[in-house]
Amino acid sequence: MKKLILPTITILGIFILTSCGSDSTKNSTSTTTTVTANVSGEDVYKRTCIACHQPNGAGIPNTFPPVAQSDFIADREKTITQVIKGKSGELVVNGVKYNNVMPPQNLTDAEVAAVLTYIYSNFGNNGAPVTIDEIKAIRAKQ
Ligand code: HEC
Repeated sequence: MKKLILPTITILGIFILTSCGSDSTKNSTSTTTTVTANVSGEDVYKRTCIACHQPNGAGIPNTFPPVAQSDFIADREKTITQVIKGKSGELVVNGVKYNNVMPPQNLTDAEVAAVLTYIYSNFGNNGAPVTIDEIKAIRAKQ
């Protein structure tokens, strides 16, 4: 019987070591995921964009253009630039001219990605999610 104790302890030790190892891997993965998932596009929209673009995304006629079913957002680069840099001057959405000012939005890359992903997947829009890498690439061009 005694002969079995040492191998058993060794096996137990290995088991404990490996399970610790995989635990810490799991933890670090889930922390990274949480950082991104923590940014809710809906929250950013409600906090930052809603006053002008309205709860239903329809904007205000002749003043604030709609983000709901807007033909403008088909151009992802223009749309991302719009949020990062803001814009004044003439802009056409669904054939209607606007000539107003949108201030640059002071948001992190993750917040811009999240809020645009929210817009692309709501308000009757149907666009692919916007990634943080897309925002980074466009900021790098500015
Ligand atoms: C102070 C009001 C205001 C806020 C806040 C604001 N916008 Fe705008 N937005 C505008 C105006 C005005 C325009 C049109 C600018 C022009 O006439 O040149 C515009 C244009 C846009 C456009 C391009 C045209 C369209 O409707 O498709 C997008 C996309 C957009 N905004 C997204 C956002 C997002 C996302 C936020 C929040 C992060 C935001 N805006 C916050 C006023 C605002």
